[in-house]
Amino acid sequence: MKKKVTKAIIPAAGLGTRFLPATKAMPKEMLPILNKPTIQYIVEEAVESGIEDILIVTGKGKRAIEDHFDNNFELEDNLLRKEKYHLLEEVRASSKVEIHYIRQKEAKGLGHAIWCARKFIGNEPFAVLLGDDIVQAEKPCLKQLIEQYDESQASIIGVQQVAEEDTQRYGIIDPYSKKGRSYQVKNFVEKPKQGTAPSTLAILGRYILTPEIFPFLGQHNVGKGGEIQLTDAIQQLNGIQDVFAYEFEGKRYDVGEMIGFIRTTMEFALNNQEFGPEVEAMMAELLLEKKILSLNLEI
Ligand code: UTP
Repeated sequence: MKKKVTKAIIPAAGLGTRFLPATKAMPKEMLPILNKPTIQYIVEEAVESGIEDILIVTGKGKRAIEDHFDNNFELEDNLLRKEKYHLLEEVRASSKVEIHYIRQKEAKGLGHAIWCARKFIGNEPFAVLLGDDIVQAEKPCLKQLIEQYDESQASIIGVQQVAEEDTQRYGIIDPYSKKGRSYQVKNFVEKPKQGTAPSTLAILGRYILTPEIFPFLGQHNVGKGGEIQLTDAIQQLNGIQDVFAYEFEGKRYDVGEMIGFIRTTMEFALNNQEFGPEVEAMMAELLLEKKILSLNLEI
């Protein structure tokens, strides 16, 4: 009988060191792009892709995530009384899905965070969405992968092309055949050294996995950066069953590092219907001010 993907894991227990000191007491996943925390974009993608249950893996100092997705009756009542229905809809956004939580006691790596979810997943296929990557697409990125799974009943890893010099920052696939947007994969390599990447197709934070991955994650093998890496377990899984890569459609925003985060904020602000034109004028003004200042300095 064909299985369906109804559960998703969102690992959010990392230390977020690239955003210190902002992430000392606040989860990186709660940093907002405009008025919405990053993790809410991810939850919305999961809901739009048909996911029914989400498990968020949290850790120390991550309580704000649970509070964010909890009902806040006082706030909802206030918005209702003031007839701010649009905002009410926004704060209730997560009510369309069951959200569960588990704690990863120590940030031992992404692979370990996924392993912590094994009892919740049981013997079913499941999705993983990382909060580092927001994808804007006509058809939600995760939905594209689920459709592939429905056909093949095999693990599918979301990939896109990245610049050659960036391959060392990602898990990279070594493909050996291509059909449409789908690749058969020889090897999955975590953060290959500069100049050694087998391709420029990078794993970008969206996965459909079969539960057969858990025994490999349970070996707790330590990989790159001294962390238990998900990519290493995927490579092992590929040794016993097909694992495909799928080049998803859509624009991906890297919000896990500072420059990507700034760029995403600027682009979302520029594209915002309500205040986009004002932001555009503001940016032009700032650039002009900077230019005038540097000309004055030169004189
Ligand atoms: P990252 O490596 O991007 O997150 O992991 P990080 O470790 O928090 O960031 P830096 O490098 O210190 O700045 C990708 C995702 O996996 C989660 C993170 O929360 C993030 O959403 N993660 C990572 C865990 O849940 N547990 C871990 O042990 C590591």
